Amino acid sequence: MEEIIVTGGYPLTGSVGVLGAKNAALKQMVAMLLAPGTHLLGNVPGILDVALMGRVLEHIGAVCSFAGNELTVEVPDELRPEAPLDLVRQMRASIVVLGPLLARGGVARVAFPGGDDLGARPIDMHLDGLRRMGAEFELEHGVLIARAPGGLKGAEVSLEFPSVGATENVLLGAVLANGETTLHNAAREPEIEDLVAFLVKMGARIRGAGTSLITVEGVEALKPGAHTVLPDRLEAGTYAVAAAITGGEVRVEQCVPDHLRMELRKLTEAGCMVDFGEDWFSVLGPDRPSPVDFATLPFPGFHTDMQPQMVALLSVASGTSVITENIYDARFRYAGELMRMGADITTEWQHAVIRGVEKLSGCPVIAPDIRAGASLVLAGLRAEGQTAVGEVHHIDRGYEDFVGRLQSLGGHLERRPVGAAS
Ligand code: EPU
Repeated sequence: MEEIIVTGGYPLTGSVGVLGAKNAALKQMVAMLLAPGTHLLGNVPGILDVALMGRVLEHIGAVCSFAGNELTVEVPDELRPEAPLDLVRQMRASIVVLGPLLARGGVARVAFPGGDDLGARPIDMHLDGLRRMGAEFELEHGVLIARAPGGLKGAEVSLEFPSVGATENVLLGAVLANGETTLHNAAREPEIEDLVAFLVKMGARIRGAGTSLITVEGVEALKPGAHTVLPDRLEAGTYAVAAAITGGEVRVEQCVPDHLRMELRKLTEAGCMVDFGEDWFSVLGPDRPSPVDFATLPFPGFHTDMQPQMVALLSVASGTSVITENIYDARFRYAGELMRMGADITTEWQHAVIRGVEKLSGCPVIAPDIRAGASLVLAGLRAEGQTAVGEVHHIDRGYEDFVGRLQSLGGHLERRPVGAAS
């Protein structure tokens, strides 16, 4: 058990490069199950979630090796079509194995994922989409038994909401289905476009990625793929807020500023000076941020996974901000930890009212999930004195060497075993 000890009050300066996107890499790993042979993925972040997804693939029969941010996966001809509870519990995204396993062998057994710290997180749209393509589901003792007796068939699928995971599950089933699938109200996230780019390299026929209408023409078989994962907009955005909250100046490199258009706009409204080129941006933070209102929305709206970091920033703003969370039903659970540091936040259903305070003061806090964990570290960089962030394994799920990268920008923080004296 480790914790991150942060000493606040030091502006971050310098430049930092970001790695590949967690939420793209994880789904591309699952896509590999669609074709036997050796697949290669570059720019893969060395994070816990990638290791966990590797364990899911190995359970299914693949062999994974990871070195220097390159991942090689050998997928066998015969798959063991299941994802057990201990892995699904730790790695919710495992649910996207349903589509490829059904497409490959017409059967899958996947532990039913429960809710988590962000909310109930049902999977009804995943199942509805695959059902339209000929799949049948039964729940037995907490395990979802999926069968597609006649194989998956192309279908018209309309999502009630542009769910990222449901879009991916339908896509991953449709690429090997018999006939054409049309997906209406598809998620438009850059990670979906990157998944499609990988699938196309494997031989899939897909049109419309990045729009809400995606058409997939099923093919007989796919071949192994090689791809470089797109940059992580959430890692990039987290460093942007780190600059903003410390009143520092940071240049974020190897990223796609266009994927953070709304988030950078809100940072500008908060008083940051933002400059950018094709694959970099820089943020110069103000002494004290201005209040900003925003609502989280599917891409290209403000990303829910940037909401906790932005709330940390606005907790020291010179006025009151109102935030609306539209993606998850319980994404403000971390606010209590920020309040222990002196933030003044009231939450009501999907709204948070943040009355900016002059200063935060360091204290022990607990990271409840990946992004809230990052936001507490950022708050610690601004706070007076020391903040000890516990349960840091959540941060490890999504950020490679978070402490080392913030240290390279001049942040005063370290990782140590819980309870060790500094
Ligand atoms: N939803 C349903 N039914 C469904 C599917 C989704 O009600 O069948 C609801 C969810 O409960 C949630 C909302 O729709 O309230 C959005 O869910 P979505 O399916 O879009 O999200 P996801 O695929 O489960 C991915 C990312 C999340 C990110 C969301 C939104 C991965 C592994 N996870 O989750 O990332 O917040 O999209 O962009 O890709 C993170 O990286 O920290 C993280 C939580």
